[in-house]
Amino acid sequence: MTQFPTGTPSTTAQRWLHRIAIVLAVGTVLLIAKGGLVHSAGAGLSVPDWPTTYGENMFTFPVEKWTGGIVYEHGHRLLASGIGMLMIVVAVMVWMVDRRRWLRWLSIAALGAVIVQGVLGGITVLMQLPTAVSVSHAMLAQSFMIATMLIAAATARGWKQTKLPAPVSADRGLQKLLLATVVFTFVQILLGAITRHTYSGPAIIDFPLNNGKVIPDFVNFGVAIQFAHRVGAMILSVLIFVQGIRILRNRELAVLRTPALLAMIMVTVQFLLGATVIWTREAIVPNTLHVMGGAMTFAVVFLTYARSVHFYRFSASRESAEHIQFQGIKA
Ligand code: HEM
Ligand code: HEM
Repeated sequence: MTQFPTGTPSTTAQRWLHRIAIVLAVGTVLLIAKGGLVHSAGAGLSVPDWPTTYGENMFTFPVEKWTGGIVYEHGHRLLASGIGMLMIVVAVMVWMVDRRRWLRWLSIAALGAVIVQGVLGGITVLMQLPTAVSVSHAMLAQSFMIATMLIAAATARGWKQTKLPAPVSADRGLQKLLLATVVFTFVQILLGAITRHTYSGPAIIDFPLNNGKVIPDFVNFGVAIQFAHRVGAMILSVLIFVQGIRILRNRELAVLRTPALLAMIMVTVQFLLGATVIWTREAIVPNTLHVMGGAMTFAVVFLTYARSVHFYRFSASRESAEHIQFQGIKA
């Protein structure tokens, strides 16, 4: 095992930054689940105003008034505020203890995203859940989550100071595949969000058939968009399994093994959850888990790609450092 030469030991503050960033990333996945619950329970308009809650300050809104759908919607707003505050803490800490420019600007972009996300949440309430705004709110949630994941991953000690068993091979083809999978996951989630916010869940009532056929009759938009989402699920599963098998068969890619394996497990679970959403006629629990599973699939797919880019650069710079050293010895 070789210790990467430029690895710097973490300070206490950097270790705390990493811990808080993990809480932020995990909390964001839970917030996405909570948002999914708001929609699945049909509670989106149970608090009709914003930024106030029934005319009161949202932070002092009395607990005894938390009844019915208000529990979901108001709870979602409070948790979102907590995540927003945690994001401020992480962004400030990144600027104080980490010198990497890209990470500093990523933390600012993530802070901007969470603010826009809160405003989108408010607008969707005030405009009574228009499809475009609700879909944007769902998709920005996923994008923000990815940013928090990257911050958490990049502040880990292992990211800066890694023991690499062997150089990660410069498999450009694989890197393109990993990137294509990330982009395709985003598209798949977008198709899911459009299905959801155009209320097209009941448009196809069975699975694995599609209204009794392999290819359904496209009688309305709902059938078309949900069928596209189902086809997307198959393509995405193939992409994730192809990349996973390529990674597992290549010993040099040991650093990618865990996320690649997790991605295969996650997409299988997500596929089954999608089927359960249909079989249970959109019961709240599987439906909410399907939204959360989408986020977790996206997270592991993205982290596989991010690791591949990072460790490729890492080993490339190590190789060039060793090359320079070797040239020096020759001279
Ligand atoms: C960090 C900030 C936030 C995140 C990450 C977030 C995330 C989400 C997610 C993932 C959903 C589920 C979308 C779906 O089921 O397709 C959702 C739904 C919702 N969120 Fe948020 N949210 C945030 C802030 C807010 C805020 C501040 C409000 C304020 C009103 C809000 C109001 C709503 C409403 C009303 C829904 C249900 C939308 C519908 O039924 O169409 N969100 N949120
Ligand atoms: C395997 C990859 C899959 C991924 C990554 C995925 C992802 C998602 C996500 C993230 C959403 C919610 C989007 C949002 O509003 O935030 C969604 C909705 C939905 N998905 Fe999937 N899905 C997959 C597979 C499937 C399968 C195989 C089916 C059906 C058999 C399915 C059926 C649905 C339906 C019906 C909805 C809308 C639910 C509603 O109306 O509330 N999904 N999907």
